[in-house]
Amino acid sequence: MASSTSHPTLFSPLKLGETLTLPNRVVMAPMSRGRATSALKANELMAEYYASRASAGLLITEGTHTSVMGRGWFHTPELVTSDDAKAWRIVTDKVHEAGGRIFCQMWHAGRASHSAFRDGEDGYEGEKKLSVAPSAIKRASEAGKQRHTPRGGEVDVETPRAMTVEEIEALPEEFRNAAQVARDGGFDGVEIHGANGFLLDTFMQSCSNHRTDQYGGSLENRFRIVDACIRAVLTVFEPECVGIRIAPNGVYNGMGSDDFRESFLYYARRFSEYKLGYMHVMIGLGFGFHNKGKPMTIAELKKEFPGPIIANVGFDADSAEKELSEGGADLVAFGRPFLSNPDLVEKMQEGRELRPMLPMEYWYTSKENVWTSEGYTDLSVMDEPVEAKE
Ligand SMILES: Cc1cc2nc3c(=O)[nH]c(=O)nc-3n(C[C@H](O)[C@H](O)[C@H](O)COP(=O)(O)O)c2cc1C
Repeated sequence: MASSTSHPTLFSPLKLGETLTLPNRVVMAPMSRGRATSALKANELMAEYYASRASAGLLITEGTHTSVMGRGWFHTPELVTSDDAKAWRIVTDKVHEAGGRIFCQMWHAGRASHSAFRDGEDGYEGEKKLSVAPSAIKRASEAGKQRHTPRGGEVDVETPRAMTVEEIEALPEEFRNAAQVARDGGFDGVEIHGANGFLLDTFMQSCSNHRTDQYGGSLENRFRIVDACIRAVLTVFEPECVGIRIAPNGVYNGMGSDDFRESFLYYARRFSEYKLGYMHVMIGLGFGFHNKGKPMTIAELKKEFPGPIIANVGFDADSAEKELSEGGADLVAFGRPFLSNPDLVEKMQEGRELRPMLPMEYWYTSKENVWTSEGYTDLSVMDEPVEAKE
């Protein structure tokens, strides 16, 4: 890759605040892989997976639940108890030994959760088992089915329950606790998940927040709980060790609001006030576009958020270099290319060909929907023709 311009390239280092230097600008995007234990703990297998990608400038983990109400995916790890911290230490130690840096993505799934995640949990019966959201608005979903429940099967998407003010006001403590567990678990920082129709995104967007109290209506009101959660996390981590992820163009989980441009420019401005390590923007349209207007760009968000911006969705080495030199991004996150190329940084730097995309049937667990290394740390499935597996 040419590096003779005055612009940073994918392989130029970047300092996040005073404490953290990233050796390159290639970020591994957060990706749920469904390999936590049945007790929802991180483990050796996950340590091996992340450590083998430690040459990334920054690794961001899969979405990690901040609470039982926040669960959104089967076999997904959590950030709730001291045992979760102990389990994550296995991963963070191995990544650090391999020379890497790793942030944990803090995730409350909101209305994309399902009561099936609370089957058999003490204290979650009847209505209390239902997922929560700012308003009781069911998310749009292909065929109305939900695939990622504890048993991996398809169940109907449910209409969530609108959160009470008391429940909303408990969220900052939930996020503070999760950040503390992440810190005790050895993470270098955390990314707050504010994208893709999960809880915080549904508060920020007008299509999913129809509240008439202090948590709905104006942009300031819709941002109120996000602000409180960020401030709670900042009592645990320095600002440069905290990132926020947004998806202003995304349609995933039924998102897309008529006022998306005005909203996300306002939110970017608000995020800039905390001097966060970065704002992570799913800017590309390859994960679905809501078509509510001209797609937003990094350049327009950069005017409101002058700090480091990570661009994501659909990049390859060439388009990533272009986004860095012309688009205003400071880093680029790669998701799917990292699944089948643990050595993505080295391959892109040496201009080597990438392995094709990992077949979807291996993304979240193995093909047989069981917890295994197949298609995860064991990529031998890639060496056989995909048809032979059908
Ligand atoms: C298997 C898989 C799991 C994902 N899980 C998450 C997740 O836990 N949190 C999140 O914010 N995005 C998640 N995403 C979205 C990715 O972070 C990324 O935005 C998406 O893959 C687009 O980037 P790419 O074009 O480089 O793959 C996931 C994507 C994939 C393919």
